[in-house]
Amino acid sequence: MSNLASILESRLSSQRLRWLRALAEASRNRATGIYIVGGVVRDLLLDRPIVDMDISVSGLDEQLASDMADALDGRVTSHSQFNTFKIEIDSTVIDVAMTRQESYANPGALPEVLPGSLEQDLARRDFSVNAMAVDISSDAWGELLDPFNGQGDLNRSFIRVLHPKSFSDDATRIFRAVRYSQRLGFALQDETAMLLQNSLGRLDAISGDRMRHEFQKVFAEACAGPILSRLDELGVLGVVFGPLGRHSSLPWPDWQASEGFSENPPNPEELVWLSTLACGLTPGEAGLFARRLNMDSNWSTVVRDTVAVEGLLDELCSHGILRSRIYQMLNQLHPAALRGVAATHDGSAASGNIHLYLQELQGMRTELTGRDLMALGIDEGPEIGRLLNALLEARLDGSIADRLSEEALLRRMIS
Ligand code: CTP
Repeated sequence: MSNLASILESRLSSQRLRWLRALAEASRNRATGIYIVGGVVRDLLLDRPIVDMDISVSGLDEQLASDMADALDGRVTSHSQFNTFKIEIDSTVIDVAMTRQESYANPGALPEVLPGSLEQDLARRDFSVNAMAVDISSDAWGELLDPFNGQGDLNRSFIRVLHPKSFSDDATRIFRAVRYSQRLGFALQDETAMLLQNSLGRLDAISGDRMRHEFQKVFAEACAGPILSRLDELGVLGVVFGPLGRHSSLPWPDWQASEGFSENPPNPEELVWLSTLACGLTPGEAGLFARRLNMDSNWSTVVRDTVAVEGLLDELCSHGILRSRIYQMLNQLHPAALRGVAATHDGSAASGNIHLYLQELQGMRTELTGRDLMALGIDEGPEIGRLLNALLEARLDGSIADRLSEEALLRRMIS
């Protein structure tokens, strides 16, 4: 059995180490075990950044969770089913959960949960690399518990499920497998890859909310593009979208090229990724897509506007198109849809004009305001809006450039 004490001490801040010791102390004689579990153990062993900390405690109940929070000078901010608690200390949240066993009554359903041992808790997990624990009790501080040889798979760079029914029990693990394999640069172990292929049909049983959540997690990854393309290659997107689906001839965007970053472009926000996913859909398909993912109005708008922007590509390519026309076409559409379409069709004249809109035209304003027009004697009402629009168009097209020429044009328009 390996001991990770020195890794814990070198990788975790002194504050985190203090918290872990305080949690262990609070649970002494009241819990039968306390462990760091899941992704954090994987990331400790891989020397990757540690973000969240998941702690599992055998025999955890509400009273013990509250005492643990007190020991950290924190407070329990949420208590969900199955004795899973969030303890907040300053602005840090630590997840503390009872070790549990799970069984799936039917595929896609949420699991039935009972208290269980650490081994049962690890056995219910998705992949061997996520099914390791580190004991943080004072008697066994740092001991690695690895019943499924996750460490071996980390060394071999493999994503491997723990049992053949893993994907059919929970098809969201299909997304997770691809996410981890791209994030870590790991391969899907052969049998895992075969099981994943055989379970694609199980994605039908996943609710819109859960499916949307999986896409959100993909969009949040630094390597979202490679994950989406792998999901596409493996046929996952094909199954999610059914007969609809992104036109496979469309490339996944290269943000660096598309948005002009010299290096390390920031990961675009999720709505921009959503738009790239919706590229190539017809209006009817876009509606089905929005319903399949049970999208809120913000997401649905981005999907609908993506289709609308793609419908404008021909005109946006036309030779000598006026800047005011580009503005008119794009100014009611969601900026995330504009960025998604521009990146997907990068290199085209249309994409260049969308960037022109985003970087320059969108921010242009007239110097005269509605108040100025009223001061010049124009009655309040829709006429003011029409005149301001006409001034803005002239400004966009470069026929006027300052307040004086705006006033001169205004006088001509109202005379
Ligand atoms: N888990 C699982 N099956 C799922 C979701 C989660 O077995 N469908 C388990 C895994 O052991 C995982 C842990 O629950 O490590 C916590 O889930 P999550 O926070 O999503 O995973 P992390 O590994 O912490 O992921 P990330 O690094 O992406 O935060």
